[in-house]
Amino acid sequence: MGYNVAIDGPAGAGKSTIAKRVSKEMGFLYVDTGAMYRALAVHFLQCGLKPEDTEGIKEACKNAEVTLQYEDGVQQVYLNGVNVTGLLRTEEVSRMASVSSAIPEIRTHLLKLQRDMAEKYNVLMDGRDIGTHILPNADVKIYLTASVETRAKRRYLEYQEKGIACDLEEIERDIAERDFRDMNRETAPLKQAKDAHLVDSSDMTIDEVVETIKAFCKK
Ligand code: DC
Repeated sequence: MGYNVAIDGPAGAGKSTIAKRVSKEMGFLYVDTGAMYRALAVHFLQCGLKPEDTEGIKEACKNAEVTLQYEDGVQQVYLNGVNVTGLLRTEEVSRMASVSSAIPEIRTHLLKLQRDMAEKYNVLMDGRDIGTHILPNADVKIYLTASVETRAKRRYLEYQEKGIACDLEEIERDIAERDFRDMNRETAPLKQAKDAHLVDSSDMTIDEVVETIKAFCKK
């Protein structure tokens, strides 16, 4: 069994930015489970499915194989042998991933890959149900969150930097909606594990969050 660090939290809490830095500095393999759900979402969209077509999604899932590879330590996600890493970060994919990840069959489809990675390697794995469901015996569990306003503002600035037109209120609404779906679904809802450390990054810098989490991970 590898040394396992689980980081869960809502969309836009900064999990991936923080997780990338902590894993690099501590020598963990970073496993981004949201990217796996996003890869499946790409498959469903490529099949022409709509998020509300639960039966179609369950059926299409049977023909989707998600695998991971690492290039210079950076996770690459493959869908049926094709690298789809560059296709994962659109609003359409976000929405499809958020809706389809509530379907139990979709979660089961990715469970083995996630547990296998944790078994083989020292991993820092982030997602929504890592500490509560995927790796209940993780060595360290973190619940990383921030207020909806802070998370929306961060995303807004991110889009602006990339020159993507966006509306702050719309982003805020979208994040609140996604939180509601992630936290209220029946299967593996997002919640803080009893033994997880709570880190609220609303008023913290990235460096402060990184150092706080690294301190929890000292072996
Ligand atoms: O972290 P992210 O935004 O890339 O995740 C995309 C979607 O996948 C998100 O709406 C919630 C879902 N997800 C999940 O249900 N369980 C995980 N372990 C990771 C992500």
